[in-house]
Amino acid sequence: MKLWGGRFKKKTDELVEEYTASLSFDCRLYKCDVQGSIAHANMLARCGIISRDEASKIVNGLREIGRDIKGGKFSFDIADEDIHMAIERTLIEKIGPAGGKLHTARSRNDQVATDLRLFLKDEILTTGNLLVELQRILLDLAEENIGIVMPGYTHLQRAQPMLFSHYLMAYFFMFQRDFKRLKCCYKWMDSMPLGSGALAGTSFPIDREFVAKELGFYKVSENSLDAVSDRDFVIDFLAVASLLMVHLSRFCEELVLWSTEEFDFIELDEAYTTGSSIMPQKKNPDVAELIRGKSGRVFGRLMSMLTVLKGLPLAYNRDLQEDKEALFDAVDTTKMTLKVFTGMLASLKPKPEKMKMAAEEGYLVATDVADYLVRKGLPFREAHEVVGKMVNFCLKRGCQFDQLELKDYRRFSPHFDEGIFEVIRVENSVESKVSQGGTSPDRVREQFGIATKVIADEEKWLRNH
Ligand code: ARG
Repeated sequence: MKLWGGRFKKKTDELVEEYTASLSFDCRLYKCDVQGSIAHANMLARCGIISRDEASKIVNGLREIGRDIKGGKFSFDIADEDIHMAIERTLIEKIGPAGGKLHTARSRNDQVATDLRLFLKDEILTTGNLLVELQRILLDLAEENIGIVMPGYTHLQRAQPMLFSHYLMAYFFMFQRDFKRLKCCYKWMDSMPLGSGALAGTSFPIDREFVAKELGFYKVSENSLDAVSDRDFVIDFLAVASLLMVHLSRFCEELVLWSTEEFDFIELDEAYTTGSSIMPQKKNPDVAELIRGKSGRVFGRLMSMLTVLKGLPLAYNRDLQEDKEALFDAVDTTKMTLKVFTGMLASLKPKPEKMKMAAEEGYLVATDVADYLVRKGLPFREAHEVVGKMVNFCLKRGCQFDQLELKDYRRFSPHFDEGIFEVIRVENSVESKVSQGGTSPDRVREQFGIATKVIADEEKWLRNH
């Protein structure tokens, strides 16, 4: 029997039952639902809306149901539609008419909105923990490998020498922004809809502040109509997760490139690569590729939720039920991706000689040579022209800057002296980039200091939530 069956004479069509049911996936909200209902029942008793005795029967019944579901002893029936109905029906069966009082001053609309917020607040903390773990591994890797020089790229063309650690720290700071966005998203959703009723509030003398406190919400929502139809917090999370996946995907793209024979800058651990069913020599970076691929999946969830919301009149509409699979899938994909990516990174081996060789070939110090001439008094534009001609000359000769003699240099400018041979060493080029945030070892060590503090702050925030 349906809990809402009173006004109906006909049974629900079987296909409709299957089509509208969300129980198969929203069952994972059971803990939040039990938690929310316990707080609600306690509040009803506190406000004299139900008796203390009824409340304690309800609370004990709900606890038992929670245990049964956890222990796999709960029988799910698709006719219940969703987890909220399944739990309420079972409660009534267990404890009798007192169970029927739980839904006083409440609607499934404010109930599901509350459950989903409780769920996501918790998942944000789990995701945050995984993100900090990744940042820690990244920082370790950067600190261990501070001596490695590699080519930096623009347009995927060799550009200027930089430290491998500088590259790693670039991602550290991207992930720091992701963490900040997670925090912000958590703050935005820390508002409790329960007590909004179906849409208009309730005539019972409820105490919403009490329930919010019980459930750990920072505040109660201000407008009942908004509260039951608002899924902005789902979109906020999907947007944050999408951008995090963008970062992971870009990183993976580089790992894929760098582990090719053409680049050969890194070696991915065998545990994070796979073989080919036909080509025996292959060691493929499938994990990195799949992370790149799964980013698309998370963006898709964001798009689907934007689309679900865009045409909805206030307040609740059943379309909103589509929020769950989108959110659950994005949460699971993001968490799993963070875990596997962190493992892959921790086991990655850089190849310092290969990186340095690549940095020494291709005139990456051309800008340093131009800067050298600028220091001798030449305007930068003129220096650029001189070095451009030198590159052209070397290309024709098939040589690098370090194969030129001083007299060759002097053909291009009388300003060159012995000092130029120090300038064109890649280590010196890196060493010279001393501007704040630059790639000189001291500046990169400065980033390590900042990063250590960032991690400590992030961990502190996680501990306090
Ligand atoms: N299963 C529904 C959902 O997830 C719960 C709310 C149903 N409310 C309603 N008025 N039909 O959105």
